[in-house]
Amino acid sequence: MKKSRIVVIGAGAVGSTTAYTLLLRNRMDELVLIDANEKKAIGDALDMNHGMPFLGGTKVWAGTYEDCKGADIIIITAGVAQRPGEERIQLLKRNVAIFDQIIDEVLKYNDDGILLIASNPVDVMSYFSLRKSRWPVNRVIGSGTLLDSARFRYLIGEELNIDPRSVHAPIIGEHGDSELPVWSLSNVAGTELGLNDEQKERIFTGTRDAAYQIIEAKGATYYAIALALDRICTAILQDEGAVLNVSTLLDNYLGVSDVYIGVPCVVDRGGIRNVLELTLSDEETALFQKSANKLKGLIESIRD
Ligand code: 2OP
Repeated sequence: MKKSRIVVIGAGAVGSTTAYTLLLRNRMDELVLIDANEKKAIGDALDMNHGMPFLGGTKVWAGTYEDCKGADIIIITAGVAQRPGEERIQLLKRNVAIFDQIIDEVLKYNDDGILLIASNPVDVMSYFSLRKSRWPVNRVIGSGTLLDSARFRYLIGEELNIDPRSVHAPIIGEHGDSELPVWSLSNVAGTELGLNDEQKERIFTGTRDAAYQIIEAKGATYYAIALALDRICTAILQDEGAVLNVSTLLDNYLGVSDVYIGVPCVVDRGGIRNVLELTLSDEETALFQKSANKLKGLIESIRD
């Protein structure tokens, strides 16, 4: 049987935590780490390999782009990260230049895997990756608002004293400052949340500004994004058909086209099977379109 392989490009805080999370959860047969700083990738692989007596039989190594050959999923976490007070979109130009080289290298060795993009600003980096790779839309996925939705569900769960896994509440739009909560469709097992405006405001602000808070406190976010990436990989490798709020290219969705943005998508072995259309309130639709327009402006700014 063909061995499952995940390649993680970028062994910074997000890349190595993602690799470690995938390893702990025994998600694949082979795990490859690639970083421009080869020593860091080698160190991470060694460190993880020393834990093998306590784990399953995953083969882990620090590799080269040639190892993308046959990979099922290639996760890109490389690029510059936010400094305290910086917005995700301030990273755009620098990360596009880095992705330009990375994707050229990946394409030399792989043409049928799935690209999973995590670097910020993730929606624009995903759009760039799609156009650059010329892969079909279903095989280029951005982590989108999956993490934001998890933060949102966690905060709602805390407020209601309910397990966040039982909270259904999506954040859609940009993974960034223009994202929006879909309160009109949020519920606990089909029942109303019963939150007042003050509670809602506090929960959404806490969700939207979570990354700023964490970066201010410890320089970077990585545990929850690693779990979100693991969730997407699992939906793919296990052919789940799970509904996840990831970033994909829209084609006339709530009046929005030609932009990558976080919306509920059905994810399976082929990547994104389809997008689920939400019935939003007028106010939510307007906010979603505004968020999409912001992303379109950013896409325009990187066209040559
Ligand atoms: C996060 O939301 C910084 O995008 C990263 O944690």
